[in-house]
Amino acid sequence: MSSHQLKLLRRTPVMVLILGAGLLLPAHEAAAATSYEAENATVSQGQVDADHTGFTGTGFVNYGNVAGSYVEFTVDAAAAGTSNLTFRYANGSTADRPMDIRVNGALAADDLSFPVTGAWTTWRTVSRAVPLRAGSNTIRATAVGSAGGPNLDNLLVGSASTSTKPAEVNGQLKVCGVHLCNQYGNPVQLRGMSTHGLQWYYQCLPDAALDALAYDWNADVMRISMYIQEDGYETDPRGFTDKVHHLIDEATARGMYAIVDWHMLDPGDPYYNLERAKTFFSEIAQQHNGNTNLLYEIANEPSDVSWSRIKSYAEDLIPVIRQYDPETPIIVGTRAWSSLGVSDGADETEIVNNPVNASNIMYTFHFYAASHGDEYLNTLTRAADELPIFVTEFGTQEYTGDGGNDFTMSQRYLDLMASKKISWVSWNYSDDFRSGAVFKAGTCPDGTYTGTGSLKPAGAWVRDRIRTPDDFPTG
Ligand code: GCU
Repeated sequence: MSSHQLKLLRRTPVMVLILGAGLLLPAHEAAAATSYEAENATVSQGQVDADHTGFTGTGFVNYGNVAGSYVEFTVDAAAAGTSNLTFRYANGSTADRPMDIRVNGALAADDLSFPVTGAWTTWRTVSRAVPLRAGSNTIRATAVGSAGGPNLDNLLVGSASTSTKPAEVNGQLKVCGVHLCNQYGNPVQLRGMSTHGLQWYYQCLPDAALDALAYDWNADVMRISMYIQEDGYETDPRGFTDKVHHLIDEATARGMYAIVDWHMLDPGDPYYNLERAKTFFSEIAQQHNGNTNLLYEIANEPSDVSWSRIKSYAEDLIPVIRQYDPETPIIVGTRAWSSLGVSDGADETEIVNNPVNASNIMYTFHFYAASHGDEYLNTLTRAADELPIFVTEFGTQEYTGDGGNDFTMSQRYLDLMASKKISWVSWNYSDDFRSGAVFKAGTCPDGTYTGTGSLKPAGAWVRDRIRTPDDFPTG
C-alpha cells in the first residue's frame, strides 16, 4: 500500500481487537486414506463410462447433463472428526460444474466448484474438509447446474487431504534461478491473499475466515500484514508478535504457506526500523524454524530511499535471520513502494546491476491495475526474466486500494504472472469499506466467509482466480 493510502488509513477508525483465546489447533492428524471408485457408488441420472483415459478402477461416472444428478458414496470413518474428501474429476467443458456435497444428508459444501480441466482426459482433484461420524457415512455429490456434474473418477477420504494442501505437497520452498521451486525442484506459482493491517482488521481472521481462505478460496498462501508504525508493532511488540505466531500456526494447520510481512510504510527508510526488525524476525525464526511453509518479507514498501540503501538494510538484517533459519526464502522490498523503482523514474536494472548479496532471496513488486499501466507491466515482464520476483500485493483498483476496478488490465497482469510462474498475493482479506477489501463492510467477524454472497466485485473476481486448479509438479 502506498503512502497515499496511508493518509486514508489514518482516518480508518481503530477497530476493537478481538484477541483469540490463544489456543492453537495442532495440524490435523489424518487417518490413512481410503479410495472409493465412483463406478461402484450409487448413481442417479448418470452412467458409468470408460471412454476417456486416465481414470482409476474400471471407469468413471458421467453425470447426466441435468441438475440434481448425483453420485452417492458410502464411506467408513474409524472415529468421528474432520476428514478430507478429495474428488478426482475431469471437466472438459468450458464452464465450472459446481456440486453440492451432502454428508449424511446435511449440506457440507454449497456449490463446490469443479473448474474446467481443459480436456475430458485431464483429471484433477478438488478437496473439502467435512465432519464425519464414526462408522458408516453417506457422501452425496449433486450437480447444481443444468449441465450436470463433471466426470467423476473417485473419492479419497482421509489423509489424501495432505496431498492436496499446497504447503504439504510442495514442502520447503527454495529460490531456483528466477523462480520459486518446491521440494522437488520444480518451479511453482503460489496464489493467495494478504490480510489487512492486524491492528485494524484482526477480527476478519477468525477460524471460519481462515477455513474459507484455505478450503473455499483454495489459497496457497496467506500474507500476514503486520504494520510497524500506524498504531502497529511499535505500540505493542509482544502483542503483535503473538498475533503473527498465532496466524502462522493457523496457516500451517490448513496447509497454506504464510508470508510474514514486515509492513514498514512510513517512514519509508527501512533503517528506521532495523533494530525492531532484528528483534521480531529473530523470535519468528527461532520459534518456527521447524516450519517448511514460510516466507519472510522484510520491507513492505520502502520510499524516498535509494536502492543501495534498501540493499544495505537487507544485508544487515538477513544474516541475523539466517543464524536461526537457513532455509526460508526472504523477499526484499524494492525502491518507490516496491515498484522496482518505476514510481521514482528508475527501473529494475539498478537491482540487476547491484543485487542483494545473499542467497535464497526474491524481490518485491506491487501493482494496482487501475493506476499502474503498461510501463509497470513492461517492467515486470522484463524484470521477471532477470530476477526472482514475488508480487506480494496487487489490487484491481487504484493504488489507494479504492476506486473503480480495471479487470482488463488486472487480467493482463495475471496472464503474465501465470506464464512466468510469478507468485502473487492480492490486497486484501478484510471488510474495510474500500473497493479492494474483498468483503462487504460489516461482514467481520460473524458473517459468511465462504461463497460469494459477502464479496465485493473485486473479491469475487480474485476468488475465482485463486481457486482455479494449481499446477504443482511433484515428479
Ligand atoms: C462429453 C464427454 C462426456 C461428458 C459430457 C458432459 O460428451 O464425452 O464424458 O460427460 O461431455 O458434458 O458431461
